[in-house]
Amino acid sequence: MVINSKMSLQETLEIAKKEGNTIGLVPTMGALHEGHLSLINFAYSQCDKVVVSIFVNPTQFNNASDLEKYPRNVSKDAEFLKTHNPETIVFTPEVNEIYSDKVESEAFEFGDFINFMEGEFRTGHFDGVGSVLKRLFDIVKPDKAFFGEKDYQQLRVVKKLVEITGQNVEIIGCPTSRNEFGLAQSSRNYRLNDAQLKEAELIYKALTKAKSMFSSNSVESIEKEIKHMFEAQPSFELEYFSIVKEKDLIPTKTKDPKEHYRAFIAAFLGEVRLIDNMALY
Ligand code: PAF
Repeated sequence: MVINSKMSLQETLEIAKKEGNTIGLVPTMGALHEGHLSLINFAYSQCDKVVVSIFVNPTQFNNASDLEKYPRNVSKDAEFLKTHNPETIVFTPEVNEIYSDKVESEAFEFGDFINFMEGEFRTGHFDGVGSVLKRLFDIVKPDKAFFGEKDYQQLRVVKKLVEITGQNVEIIGCPTSRNEFGLAQSSRNYRLNDAQLKEAELIYKALTKAKSMFSSNSVESIEKEIKHMFEAQPSFELEYFSIVKEKDLIPTKTKDPKEHYRAFIAAFLGEVRLIDNMALY
């Protein structure tokens, strides 16, 4: 079922809730892939009804060309969901349904961790993500909402968002879905040709390398090694490689055996920006 007005969506959900169903929300920007499917299946394992929103959110793009080139194909997405999960309620609002006539972000106090990595390189990105999710949570009022760990910093932002807004929704993080060569599933992969898809495996190789080096090498020497790996593949431009403490997501150069750490990468392959991360424990 595809619905594009928030009023009809709310009517449908009200009936479902009155019948005692729990509601799961999987927010997406479309160009659906296996990664979304695993989120949707996870949502079905925990909720009676699942809403998948498809909305390319303008306020989270700090680069007009990135927004313009973001892959969009709602009818293909609807077909994809009909094939894999025909029960899914697909919400495809227009921009004015979400933002009325003021397409602007709200400013949130997510904390220091958004000054690094995605927050550092995509100014205003997380305020845009927070703004759209706050609205989607208000419209859908889900019991649970599901997010992939590929966007790990985003997952932590969303957990903080519901703390700030007090919205009564449980935020569930789901493992990153990867292809057989380790490449994280992403809508942006649709913009890569076959040769680039093969080259993109470097990101997973680099993260795996960082993980294998972590217990017996300094953060500096791991950073050096990862930089070399990217320099050896000039089609790639590494934007950042950061090792952070999982607790606060702040990049660090020191290691404490009592802490857990994660490595994060963002890199451009041609014009396509790819991100990924991995636990180092
Ligand atoms: O991860 C995404 O696809 C987007 O950031 C989200 C969560 C759908 C918000 O627009």
